[in-house]
Amino acid sequence: MILPIYAYGSPVLRQKAEPISPDYPGLKELIANMYETMYSSNGIGLAAPQIGLPIRLFVVDGSEIDEIDPVDFKQTFINPIILEEFDDKWSFEEGCLSIPQVREPVSRHAKLRIRYQDEQFREHEAVFDGMAARIIQHEYDHIEGVLFTDRISPLKRNLLKGRLSNISVGRVNVSYRMKFPKSR
Ligand code: NI
Repeated sequence: MILPIYAYGSPVLRQKAEPISPDYPGLKELIANMYETMYSSNGIGLAAPQIGLPIRLFVVDGSEIDEIDPVDFKQTFINPIILEEFDDKWSFEEGCLSIPQVREPVSRHAKLRIRYQDEQFREHEAVFDGMAARIIQHEYDHIEGVLFTDRISPLKRNLLKGRLSNISVGRVNVSYRMKFPKSR
């Protein structure tokens, strides 16, 4: 089932999300719905707060984004903890399904080490780099209540103010289902 994506301005996008346990109701179906929602909106990552749930869960599939350096990974991250971020920072233009039609360069560390649980709640610890690391950092921010627009310069954020407030009231053209926090 395709779920509506919560738009910029929704309070749930600003909450620090809570860990979940294996008995979280309907988890398997929820994860399937999150993948379906992500693919139908051409996203490469989707975090639970973006569908209105303040829980520590996100899905990523970056297998098709980079032809030169294919990121062959599709992964569900449950209760993740980024243990460290390291290596030089690099800048890349990011977007977000909750903030349609806005793209800005964001500077992030090239590598990270993360501990997480998979769909069977098996624990993993792994190092990611390149685009995989970037997607994880962006989605991880979501479960911490952080958006990529928080990571751009105050000057650029100021320039985006009008567009961001338009998004929060639904004044934006978007091809997928969204839920806007404020009506006009
Ligand atoms: Ni996002």
